[in-house]
Formats: sequence, structure tokens, C-alpha cells
Amino acid sequence: MKVDLLLGLQWGDEGKGKIVDVLTKNYAIIARFQGGPNAGHTLIFENQKHVLHTIPSGIFHKGAKNVVGNGVVIDPVILKRELANLENHNIDYRKVLYISRKAHLILPTHRLLDAASEALKGKLKIGSTLKGIGPTYMDKTGRNGLRIGDLELDNWKDKFNALTNKHLNLLNFYNIDLQYDLEELKNEFFEAVTLLKSLTFIDSETYLYEALKDKQSILAEGAQGSMLDIDFGTYPFVTSSTTTAAGACTGLGISPHTIGDVYGIFKAYVTRVGSGPFPTELFDNDGKTMGKVGCEFGATTGRPRRCGWLDLVALKYAVRINGATQLTMMKADVLSGFKTIKACTSYMYKGKEISNLPYSINDADITPVYTEFKGWQADLTKMTSANELPENLLSYIKFIEHFVGVPVKIVSVGPDRKQTIVR
Ligand code: GDP
Ligand code: IMO
Ligand code: MG
Repeated sequence: MKVDLLLGLQWGDEGKGKIVDVLTKNYAIIARFQGGPNAGHTLIFENQKHVLHTIPSGIFHKGAKNVVGNGVVIDPVILKRELANLENHNIDYRKVLYISRKAHLILPTHRLLDAASEALKGKLKIGSTLKGIGPTYMDKTGRNGLRIGDLELDNWKDKFNALTNKHLNLLNFYNIDLQYDLEELKNEFFEAVTLLKSLTFIDSETYLYEALKDKQSILAEGAQGSMLDIDFGTYPFVTSSTTTAAGACTGLGISPHTIGDVYGIFKAYVTRVGSGPFPTELFDNDGKTMGKVGCEFGATTGRPRRCGWLDLVALKYAVRINGATQLTMMKADVLSGFKTIKACTSYMYKGKEISNLPYSINDADITPVYTEFKGWQADLTKMTSANELPENLLSYIKFIEHFVGVPVKIVSVGPDRKQTIVR
């Protein structure tokens, strides 16, 4: 048995949650491998919308097991809210949700440090979701972090207090005016930890190894997107984890030999939330239309997402880094009605035409070179089979497949679970 991977190929919010939910019927286990509550994965079915931040997107399917891997960072307070939503929908999560002992905890002071770091950066801020992601991964690699498994130790609160005090010293050093009530934050944290401790903690690397031996199928769910990867994204405007395929190995403890299919997800256009370069960003009515029709607001922060044409130079790069074996195109329905569709096929960079991502992606140095396509007018949202898709959309897809060298096997034509066409 192999572990299939599903991950975003752009700057996040490609629609990973929806597609994991659609694919869960084919898998016994869904395992999140990195990121934390900076993620917002939206699932829509039976006229209800759910947004998951920490919990894998297989949770609404009876029988599927959901693993939060060691590569994930967990904020117990946010997890508690997610669990309350599951309870409201009668999901018996205790039997199907397992948390890795080696996953790291986000402390309230990690969130404060995130805010202080952003405030200090001023105009150069990352546009972090302020969920404490960066500081938590810094403590992980700095070998100071508090892990889920620590909660099983008698002295975990001593560790918590020591780390909190260290953070308070750092905050003093930063000398930023932050308003907070530490006691209130701690109480909220401790209350949420009580609920967290009632869940099943596992050695997830061993659990997944045994599951594979047992011939159980596993889908690894990524968060964020390849262009937000700590190494290969638009550094420093990235997140703090490995969002690309390699992250599944370190974030779950599975060997590279076990990886099967790599599903790469991309939008028919591009969005980005937060700061950082975005060569194909649009500031005109086309961009506004994408934002409006696509309801492009962050699922975690509510911030408007920046919109632009599909960047095939960046997409090809992401396909290569991940070894994507098949692609899913999301939100083609949002482009219905555009007379002309554009896709960036090379960059003019410092006076030269290039077809690879340069080391430093600085918007001022890059002018996208576009290929134009005829748009399609039909409403796609009610279509259910590939042969209903308009000819012009199929030409657009064919061009993309040829450009990146990987087939588009799924086309999503609306936010609902049912609005999914398999080719
Ligand atoms: P994720 O973080 O990758 O899971 O994506 P998000 O949930 O943050 O953002 C994707 C948004 O697009 C959500 O609001 C989805 O409900 C919506 N969505 C997903 N697929 C489609 C689609 O094919 N068409 C339209 N119109 N909306 C979609
Ligand atoms: P999903 O899983 C889109 C962005 C933030 C910011 C940068 C760093 O829903 O696709 P962080 O809080 O990680 O320190 O923020 O990364 N970002 C996302 N953008 N989708 C996400 O997750 C994101 N998670 C982080 O906006 O620019
Ligand atoms: Mg999202």
C-alpha cells in the first residue's frame, strides 16, 4: 500500500479541504502533515459549510480515521472550537481522531510573539495569520518546544511555565505595546488542554507504519501551498513549514518509498492572502471580478485575497518540486463570462525573457508575459460530466497539461462536494 499526497500548488486556499473531502471515500486514513490553525479548509455539503483548521478534512466521513501528524502545530484553544462544531453536527470524533504525540503545541505567548514580530517588521511584515505559527516552529527547531506527548507527563505545567516566561522576556525585549491579559489567556489554554487530553494520542509514525502493513489506504493532506514553502516559496513571505511533498515524510514519519500518487491542486487563476510578491496580480476590474465571483476572503482571517491570472511559470515549478502525478483544477466556474482568459507563460526579468522562477521574485523586476485564451460563457456549476465542459475551457486545460506535463484529472465547478467532475 502507498500513501497518496494531496497538496496546494499555489499560495494556499486552492480548495484542498473540498477535494480531500471528495476523495476520503477512497481512503481508510486521512493524515494532516504540516501547518496548523493558519490553515482554513472549507467543506460544503448538504447546504452546510464547515471550516477546518487543525482537523483533517476526512472527519465528516463515517469510518475514516483522521490523524494529526507530528509535523502539525496545534493550538488547543482553536482545536476546542473545531471540536465544538463537530459535536453540533453529531460527529463522534473521539473514535476517529488521533493526535501525534510528537506534534508541537502553540502556546498563547507564541501568538503574542507572532504579533510582536509582525509589528516590528512594519511595512515588511509577512502578513501572518497571527496564529503563532512562526514562533512555534522556531521553538521546535530551537529545541525548546512543548509537545502533545508532554501533556502526559506530571510536570508539563512546569515546562509550560518555563517556556511562557522565556517568551515574556522576549516580549519585553521587543518592547512593543501589546494589550493582553496573561491570566485569562492561560486559563483559556488550560481549559482547552483538558479537552485535548481526552483525545487519543498516538505515536503516529508507528500507527501509520502498521496501517500500511495492514494494507490500509492513506491520504496525506497538506496545508498552505508550495509557494508558501519555507525553502521553495517566495521567502521570506512564506509560512514556517515544508508545504511541499517532502513535508509529508517528515510530518508523518513515512518513508519516501511509500509515496504513491501526488495530487496537486490549483485554481484556474491565482490568489494570495498576506504580503509578498505575486507577479500576475491584477488591480483592475478582472481582479475585482475574480474576488467577487470567487468569494475570495480568507477562511481563517477573513482578509480579502489578492487575485490574478494563472501563473504557469510558478505552477510548473511547483509541479516539479512536488513530483505531482495528477492535477485538480479548482474554480473554473469563477472565470465563466470572461471574454479572454490569460495565463503567464514566461517572465520578462531585468530585460530578459525567462521561463524559470528567479532566486529573488521581486514584483518590480518581473513583467509577466501572457498567452491569451478565448473565454467561455456557460455556467459550469450545474455540469456533472466532462463532456459537458465548454470547448474553450477544455482548450485552456489542454494547454496547461501540455505546459506542465501532468494531466488534469479533476475539474471542480463549484464549492459543493457534488460540484466535482472527474475526467
Ligand atoms: P483550502 O485552504 O485549500 O482548503 O481552500 P479554502 O477553503 O481556504 O478556499 C477555497 C474556497 O473556494 C472555499 O470558499 C471553497 O468553498 C471554495 N471552492 C472550492 N472549490 C470551488 C470551486 O470549484 N468553485 C467555487 N466557486 N468555489 C470553490
Ligand atoms: P490553507 O491551508 C493561504 C499565509 C499568510 C501569510 C503567510 C505566513 O488554508 O491554504 P503564517 O500564519 O503561516 O505565519 O503566515 O502565509 N498563509 C496562508 N495563505 N492559505 C493558508 O492555508 C495559509 N496559511 C498561511 O497569509 O502570508
Ligand atoms: Mg484555506
